Amino acid sequence: VPLPRVLSGIQPTAGSFHLGNYLGALRQWVALQETAEAFYCVVDQHAITMDWDPEELRRNTLTAAAQLLALGVDPARSTLFVQSHVPEHVQLSWVMECLARFGEASRMTQFKDKSQREGTAGASVGLFTYPVLQAADILVYRADEVPVGEDQRQHLELTRDLATRFNGRFGETFTVPSVRIPEGGAKVLDLQSPEKKMSKSLPPAGCVFLLDDPKVTAKKIRSAVTDTGREVVADPEGKPGVTNLLTIHSALSGRSVGDLEEHFAGRGYGDLKKELAEVVADFVTPVRQRTQELLDDPAELQRTLAQGAARAREVAGRTVADVYDKVGF
Ligand code: ADP
Ligand code: NA
Repeated sequence: VPLPRVLSGIQPTAGSFHLGNYLGALRQWVALQETAEAFYCVVDQHAITMDWDPEELRRNTLTAAAQLLALGVDPARSTLFVQSHVPEHVQLSWVMECLARFGEASRMTQFKDKSQREGTAGASVGLFTYPVLQAADILVYRADEVPVGEDQRQHLELTRDLATRFNGRFGETFTVPSVRIPEGGAKVLDLQSPEKKMSKSLPPAGCVFLLDDPKVTAKKIRSAVTDTGREVVADPEGKPGVTNLLTIHSALSGRSVGDLEEHFAGRGYGDLKKELAEVVADFVTPVRQRTQELLDDPAELQRTLAQGAARAREVAGRTVADVYDKVGF
């Protein structure tokens, strides 16, 4: 039985991934390599739908790839590449744009959220059609499954609709991919505003970046907003801050939250933070070191990514040739 093929992408926008990205998504990428044929992609083309700086984008793309390798994406087992190195994504995307309806693209809630700042009229057309490029990212590999968070469900529905529409009009071509909400994904909250999810878009004090200086990481954890009371117990409603710290500890140490509650019985929030800072340091220190080693040899890193792109293009090229033939090019 061949392994199911999965495709997943992540934007390179922040320079460093954070604990939320790791515990909510990237940890599953690493685990999935055991049971799937994985295509993992740094989606730099999605990163220019909003304003960007070319040099920063180039640097962030390499840093993102280095972090993925440092976290355990294995280029011998998985195909790791940069989206812009595989022009077939955009080649397929144009056909998909011509099959997608303006009305269905207009219903995408992420565009509505993201275009709020500049207003719809000032947003780029790329931001509007982003979910169609995302569909092409997936369909060009004929992926069986797409591991994504709940927030991407609507885009996945569009992908499935476009695949079905193409197949209906031009004959069986695409696998209609299924959504795979990954198991064991943790939702990590912001350390300063634990009613929101940890995000690079919030002030950095609440966000633990994997590439932060260790002293900065420890300070962020020490300064995390906790709750009234003294007991270290999980209570998402009453104690979101403390619960979040326990969630992170549990996810990184592998100990259950119940176990940790016992471990911290009779001790205060200060002890929890001190120990969590150590647990986080033990996790991020080798990741940070490995990322730096990889970035210190950019030629080798580029070679790894070029090999990934070549492998991706073998698959993607066959799909585009088939599609272009069927649509009359
Ligand atoms: P950000 O919110 O920092 O902009 P992205 O939207 O780029 O992060 O998310 C990249 C991936 O990381 C997505 O799969 C998303 O679901 C996951 N992710 C982001 N933040 C968190 C979080 N706080 N907890 C769990 N998963 C998260
Ligand atoms: Na986001």
